[in-house]
Amino acid sequence: MRIVVPRESAPGERRVALVPESCKKLMQVGYEIAIESKAGEAAGFADAAYRELGVAVESDPATLLGSADLVLKIAAPATGDAGRDETEWMRRGTIYIGSLMPLRNLKAVRALAARKITAFATDALPRTTRAQSMDTLSSMASIGGYKGVLLAASELNRYFPMLTTAAGMVFPAKVFVIGAGVAGLQAIATARRLGANVVATDVRPEVKEQIESVGAKYVGIELKESAAAGGGYAKELSEDDRRRQSELLAQECAQSDVVITTALIGGVFAPRLITADTVRTMKPGSVVMDLAADGGGNCELSKPGETVHVGGVTILAPLNLPATMPFHASLLFSRNLTAFVQAFTKDKAFQLDFGDEIQQGALITHEGEVKHARTRDALQKKE
Ligand code: NAI
Repeated sequence: MRIVVPRESAPGERRVALVPESCKKLMQVGYEIAIESKAGEAAGFADAAYRELGVAVESDPATLLGSADLVLKIAAPATGDAGRDETEWMRRGTIYIGSLMPLRNLKAVRALAARKITAFATDALPRTTRAQSMDTLSSMASIGGYKGVLLAASELNRYFPMLTTAAGMVFPAKVFVIGAGVAGLQAIATARRLGANVVATDVRPEVKEQIESVGAKYVGIELKESAAAGGGYAKELSEDDRRRQSELLAQECAQSDVVITTALIGGVFAPRLITADTVRTMKPGSVVMDLAADGGGNCELSKPGETVHVGGVTILAPLNLPATMPFHASLLFSRNLTAFVQAFTKDKAFQLDFGDEIQQGALITHEGEVKHARTRDALQKKE
């Protein structure tokens, strides 16, 4: 069975779906692998490193994708932008595995269904112990949390740590983290390692203990209705809870030097949590790092992909932070994909098994149909 790895073509993308280490593992269990020339270059993996292992390096993406049984990719397939139409180039029945983000990429989902591609999204995996090693969302969220803190620290007009200097004491920065899932917990740990005082909040009750275990102080309101949606996902707060939480957030933001927001609903869309009025109460020189920018942003004033300055407050809303650390982002993503493929490899080939809860959860399109219920609903709403 032939695995094909195309070059990622989205603007600013520097990751590659398979690194040489993973190619070796997959070749050992019987796969043939072909990669598009320069696919790994921006992540630090030259064509030569693949060739050395016996991976075919090919330069024409259309021919390459046309030869694939299994395509491994970071993002959704290109559907015509900049002359690349990856869905058109794949044959009917090809299996596609990547972080499709189907709800944000409905056009690509439609194209995959029309071409009768069997597509799996690693971001739709069930949140079970067995699926953990395949979970690209967690690997990438962790990078976002880490890098987000570093960028916020470099933007801040003061130190993170407490320092005793010959010129006297400097007090530590106060960092407030909103949303303590994978990205948020990594942000807390990173800010703590840099010496900041960290306060954090979330709406799922089990998170208080996790926040405290990585060295932050928990703050939160008593919710009248549960916001846990199962599988670690949160749902939207009721009107009353939202109003009370908004007061707490405003209070904490006003006292913080750095606010890091990571909140998502259902793992996809960002609730608006920080209002323009709240930003106006923040200290001049303070920083908001909106790590939910890919989902639209948690701060009313965020402009995804841009940095804005409002009354002395800097609001950063970077997109696709994992692509700024392409070496480790590719390595971890590649290990996740390899775990997925290996779990279903028998007789040197990837076996479709829709009775398995992992394949069932991650399946987006098959035989011309959209199989993923939330994606189907979103497509119907758009029609
Ligand atoms: P996420 O990216 O969907 O959301 C980020 C965080 O924002 C969540 O903790 C959520 O509760 C929080 N949030 C949502 N609305 C909020 C609001 N109004 N105010 C404050 N916070 C709000 O979540 P993520 O990081 O993907 O996962 C969350 C949890 O799921 C993890 O901590 C982990 O326990 C679990 N998980 C389990 C996996 C497995 O077992 N395979 C894989 C991934 C996550």
